[in-house]
Amino acid sequence: MKKFVLSIACLLTAICGSASKRPAVRLQFDANSGVASTLVMPQGNKVEYTAYTHIYYVTNVEDSTYQYLNVFVPSGATQRTPIFLRTYVGGYMAAAAGAPQAGDATGRAMLEGYVVVIPGTRGRNSTVSRGKKTVYTGRAPKAILDLKAAIRYLRHFDSQMPGDAEKIITDGTSAGGAMSALMGATGNNPAYEPYLKAMGAAEERDDVFASVCYCPITDLEHADMAYEWLYGNTDSRKKADAEHQKVSSELAAAFPAYINSLGLRTPDGKQLTADNYLDFIKCELIASAQAAKDAGAETPDSIGFKFSEAASFGAPPINGGKVQETLGKKLPQGALPKVPGMAHKQVGEYIIDLDMNTYLNYVASKTALKTAPAFDSKGVAGNAASGENEEFGNEKGTSVNFTDYSAAKNGGKVSDEVKRLLPLMNPMTQIGQANVTVAPHWYIRHGSIDRDTAFPIPLNLAMKLQNAGKDVNYLLAWNRPHSGDYALDDLFSWIKKITR
Ligand code: DHB
Repeated sequence: MKKFVLSIACLLTAICGSASKRPAVRLQFDANSGVASTLVMPQGNKVEYTAYTHIYYVTNVEDSTYQYLNVFVPSGATQRTPIFLRTYVGGYMAAAAGAPQAGDATGRAMLEGYVVVIPGTRGRNSTVSRGKKTVYTGRAPKAILDLKAAIRYLRHFDSQMPGDAEKIITDGTSAGGAMSALMGATGNNPAYEPYLKAMGAAEERDDVFASVCYCPITDLEHADMAYEWLYGNTDSRKKADAEHQKVSSELAAAFPAYINSLGLRTPDGKQLTADNYLDFIKCELIASAQAAKDAGAETPDSIGFKFSEAASFGAPPINGGKVQETLGKKLPQGALPKVPGMAHKQVGEYIIDLDMNTYLNYVASKTALKTAPAFDSKGVAGNAASGENEEFGNEKGTSVNFTDYSAAKNGGKVSDEVKRLLPLMNPMTQIGQANVTVAPHWYIRHGSIDRDTAFPIPLNLAMKLQNAGKDVNYLLAWNRPHSGDYALDDLFSWIKKITR
């Protein structure tokens, strides 16, 4: 009898235990459940708002710690107010649905009067208990599925909630930047449908209006080769042991075929190939540095810049005209004389060249480079698994290779399961697909001293989108490290412009 009572107790604990993880849910929005609150901004000004929190966005909640969203409605918001959806995903890890922060883009969005939505999402580190088992339910592609379900929820209750679900602007940084890019690039793709159906997501569209991506850690299949192609000649790579040097040069050698296969064009319509890609990056860096210099930033020649030796009529050509000829890159606004016949810049004020080797060594001196391979590291040259190896692992918490290169180094192949997941996690593969709705507006930033992924990754994304006819505002932001939600005046004036 005692044993029976004990097992009933165990059963109840098991049921209640799992019930706390799997609440019985139907999708709903209760307009009367809002709680009034105040956000105090850094300057002391206040934003009054109503918070609707802990709203499940799927009916089959697998992880109640993360699978809900919070909505914050500043006073004055209407049905027509754009929605700023911020994901706090970082490191491909789980992110809880929090509150707006005065110091980041969510606080600023509230101040601007936008409805702010913060969905929680499962990630590579999130687990639930199933009986005695610990189950990793947040591995790829769960985070993007959760975010898509959140978007569908917003559409489902669009007429009952303040905010316009046709004007969703997503924002994220790093792995969160990758998530923002995925939200922007994968709208309504039927490939996600079976997963979303099983989760009990609303049957709605999940495309968005605009996507803000700070330093997106994306295109993971090609990020290792891009990294070694860019940084392979730096001093720090030359100091690596022979095995890592070999890995670096093998990966670097694979990048040209990839870049050429993309068939990208610059904003001026010139073909972008492995032969001119480094010049393209150089132009982007010079344009960014020149604009920053004009605004008063320091651009020392010790990091590779060469400056004009004489004041001139207009902008001197970059790299003796060679780069402009190849790529047609225009110098930044303000580089032309204001008064005809009179240069408004003085000797040394125009950047006319950048020694890329010096510059890349400088970037590597700011933050040590990742060891090669930078992303799919598991088991290659004795390297440990990366967060990305975990991201593609399974419910048991495995970590796995996801590139042909690293899988082969381990004597194997990328598994069929991982091959199925990769396109769901890569915005590059979906832009231009017939059955996908890509956001019309994009804001992409990657810091000029950010070495977490190589410059071609955000630049390829920007060019692919622009080539597909999207409105893309992109920049290698001068002197920014791996970070996000900066230059908010610029971001929010862009948002104002696209939502007007
Ligand atoms: C992040 C940074 C990385 O370098 C990386 O490989 C993955 C994610 C991040 O900050 O989110």
